Amino acid sequence: MTPDRHLTIPYREVPRADLSPDEARLLAAAERALSHSYAPYSHFRVGAALLLANGEILTGANHENAAFPVGVCAERVVLGMLDMRGPAAVAIAVTYQTDRSVRHSPLAPCGLCRQSLLEVRVHQKAPIAVLMASPDAAVPVRILADAADLLPLYFSGENL
Ligand code: THU
Repeated sequence: MTPDRHLTIPYREVPRADLSPDEARLLAAAERALSHSYAPYSHFRVGAALLLANGEILTGANHENAAFPVGVCAERVVLGMLDMRGPAAVAIAVTYQTDRSVRHSPLAPCGLCRQSLLEVRVHQKAPIAVLMASPDAAVPVRILADAADLLPLYFSGENL
């Protein structure tokens, strides 16, 4: 029988106190973006902040709709602000707030957002670090050095 192949996804779990100044600044921007969330249906507010190679930070928040699938995640709101001809995206931070009492694990971007991140990553040919935070500051921030690792065996324009 042919052997199984295995994929390994490297990531770090970093206590907030150990974040670099850029990482801390980016996460703070994502937390501020939470105030722009429009989430009357899920009450799950998400904030995203995108750090560009020139130091600029773009922010976005989820924007829901009464026709549920029309709603947009915070990540795709901020990625839509990115000028694909401009400075590359270096890192994205995402965080959330919820009224429900749940285990406050770090936010995991949804599948559509992983594909959207991948589009930018493949276009710019440079990695985008992903910082996934929890509303509980005691929970370490999960950091992937490359958004491509969020979507193994991905489909991209290279396949067309
Ligand atoms: N949401 C995001 O904004 N980003 C994610 O990565 C996961 C989910 C939003 C979509 C919806 O408004 C709410 O969270 C609940 O799914």
